[in-house]
Amino acid sequence: MRWTGLALLLLSLLGVLAQSVPEDPRDEAKRQKQLLLQTSGILPSDLIVEQGKDLFYTKRGPRGVSLEGCDFGLGAGVLQGASVQLPRYFADTGKVEDLDSRIRTCMTQLQGFKPEEVKRSEVVPLAFFIAAQSDGLPIQVRIAAPAEREMYELGQKLFYARSGARDMGCATCHVSYVNRRSGVLPFSDVLGKDASMSHWPAYRYSNDQAWTMEDRIRACYGNLGHPQPDFYSPVPIALQLFMAYQANQAKAELPGFLR
Ligand code: HEC
Repeated sequence: MRWTGLALLLLSLLGVLAQSVPEDPRDEAKRQKQLLLQTSGILPSDLIVEQGKDLFYTKRGPRGVSLEGCDFGLGAGVLQGASVQLPRYFADTGKVEDLDSRIRTCMTQLQGFKPEEVKRSEVVPLAFFIAAQSDGLPIQVRIAAPAEREMYELGQKLFYARSGARDMGCATCHVSYVNRRSGVLPFSDVLGKDASMSHWPAYRYSNDQAWTMEDRIRACYGNLGHPQPDFYSPVPIALQLFMAYQANQAKAELPGFLR
């Protein structure tokens, strides 16, 4: 009897210890995802993908066409594998584009929307739908065209640059401080084992947010107390090319499902 009591006491102590070790947010997200799937059979991220699919196939804009004629890098209408090869250089615009900017390019050039009519509330679900077609594929960006090399170098420079009152930059949190915490979340190893580009765009269940990597990068500039770069501008695209290149070969989980 005494031994059983002792064993129980030990077990409950172990339980307390286990609870006090903060859980890896990735594992926690996986569990949440399973739980949601079991209880409701569908994930909020699936609904966003569906919304993007509708937007993609509906004939819209002044020209009344769908986005099926859009070339995301592998030819018009080819979606499988396209998002894991972005950002890349596009000859028709003479620019390196990421998923967000390419959606906007097609909404303006193909569908005839004015740039100011392109809403984030449409670009984000479209990005979810297109990215989902590359789920499970390896990231494969290349640096071939001169414009790609230039963007890569800009991204690298931006990633390691430090500035502001706190003399901080991306690498401060995401390389030097990896695994240290800010609130509940440890800083991701964005260039290393976390291969961050493999799980964005992502749904963040803790605040019911659907974000692309452009939203994520803008928020990090905000964390730094910096002015946020404009959507579709070279800064977020260059940073993505730099980060995606480090993540080459990592298997995509798209759309991401994060805390
Ligand atoms: C003050 C600290 C801080 C700085 C500086 C910072 N970030 Fe972040 N970043 C965060 C936090 C907090 C999160 C959310 C938790 C996490 O995933 O690391 C995050 C998340 C991210 C993620 C998603 C990670 C993943 O795997 O899901 C990326 C990518 C990222 N940041 C890129 C950047 C870039 C690029 C810069 C420079 C412009 C930058 N961050 C600067 C704090 C910072």
